[in-house]
This record gives sequence, C-alpha cells and structure tokens, in this order.
Amino acid sequence: MSSAIPELPAAASPADILRIGIDAAGGPVSLACSFSLEDVAIIDIAHAAGINLGLFALDTGRLNEETYEVADALVERYRLKIDWYFPAHAEVEQLERTEGLFSFRESLDKRHACCHIRKVKPLSRALKELRGWVTGMRREQSITRNDLKALEHDELNGGILKINPLLDWSEEQLISYSDEQRLPKNHLYSQGYRSIGCAPCTRAVEPGEDARAGRWWWENPEHKECGLHRR
Ligand code: ADX
Ligand code: SF4
Repeated sequence: MSSAIPELPAAASPADILRIGIDAAGGPVSLACSFSLEDVAIIDIAHAAGINLGLFALDTGRLNEETYEVADALVERYRLKIDWYFPAHAEVEQLERTEGLFSFRESLDKRHACCHIRKVKPLSRALKELRGWVTGMRREQSITRNDLKALEHDELNGGILKINPLLDWSEEQLISYSDEQRLPKNHLYSQGYRSIGCAPCTRAVEPGEDARAGRWWWENPEHKECGLHRR
C-alpha cells in the first residue's frame, strides 16, 4: 500500500524535503546515485543535516572512468557504502551478440531496449528493497521534468515514495553549492559536459545549447528519458 504524501511547508529546503520524505516513506530509503553534481550535493546535504540515507548506483557497464572516480572520492570523503547493481549478464551477452555494441544508435526502440536491460531492470531490483527513493532530478533539466513534485508516488515501482529534494534548484545554484563545499566533481564537467549518463550516449555541449543536448543527441528532446523516470 502507498504511504500518504505529507504537505510540505512553503519554501521547504532540500534537507526538509529529505527528512519529511524519509519519515513518510515509513521504511528504507536510498538515493539513486549517478554521481552527478546533483547527487553529490544531496549526499553532502544529508551528511551535514545528519540524515541517514542509503545509496545505490546502477553500473550499466558503459559508464565513463571519470564517473567511477567520483564514486571513489565519495567513499573516501564520507565513508559511504555504495550498493552497486549490475544488469543481468545473460541479457547483456544476448544483446551484444545479436545487436552489436552500438545498437542504441539505430532506433528509439533499440535505445530503449538497451536502457531497459542496463538501467530499468536493475533499478526495479534495487527498488524492491525500499519504501522510498531519492533522485537528483530538477524541473529545469528538461520538458519531461517541468511538472516534477518534491514527493510523489512511484506508481511504476509499487507505489513507493519518490523524493526529489533539488527539484527547484537551478544549475547555477547547484554549481555554487558544489564549489562552495568543494565537492567531488566529475572531470567531464570541465570538458563541456552538463549532464552525464553512459559514455556512448553522452557528449559535451556547445555554449548556448540545452544542458541535456548532449544526452542521446541524435533524438528529439521529448524522448530524452531512459525509463528510470517514466511517470
Ligand atoms: S536519466 O534518466 O536521464 O539517465 P539523469 O542522468 O538526468 O537521468 O539523472 C537523474 C537522476 O536519476 C539522478 O540524479 C539519479 O538520482 C538517477 N540516476 C540516473 N542514472 C543513474 C545511475 N546510473 N545509477 C543510479 N541512479 C541514477
Ligand atoms: Fe544503453 Fe545508452 Fe541507455 Fe546506457 S544510456 S543503457 S548505453 S542506450
């Protein structure tokens, strides 16, 4: 059964949203961590506020080395334990043997098939253990996210609570927070990347381009979700 969604005070801070969300979830809650600026800020905010939060990461098998370096820096700085989830090896073997290594560039269906095996199914496994999950999503990231709520039921994952503490933060706010707190930062950001996913599906963006223009850059903006955040 889904837990009730509590009212949030006006101008609730990310720490308030985390605290109220975790309390409302009524059981284990973890941050889904892609090691983005957003996710690292959430770890730091929770740490500073004394909020106990689990952490899991989906290793798709196609992440950048720079992303693993952030993971390592976080373990060092906060003494974290990361629950890594991998895709089913038989499904990846089948995908690569039959479709090749870059099938996701051939069609939207093939891209979704790869994301389904490497991200969505491992996510479902991770969420089975939880009553709530925290994400680093922000409204301004994309047209697919501008109606995001701080707390929402994740109906596609058994109705558990989805907690989005940074929903109202701008990219500038996020960068200032990261710089002020000297947070571990993926080196790809200094090479023009503004949103980082799997290596073959992410590139740097040009000045003036949309922040997510470098994600699945061959697709239309309304398709730029991988299935982790279908609503
Ligand atoms: S995606 O759906 O387009 O790939 P995005 O990169 O914007 O998502 O990240 C949004 C949030 O999804 C992150 O802040 C994080 O909470 C979660 N997330 C994305 N990728 C992963 C991953 N590989 N492992 C764990 N969580 C992830
Ligand atoms: Fe596959 Fe690209 Fe999706 Fe990663 S982002 S799971 S490589 S299609």
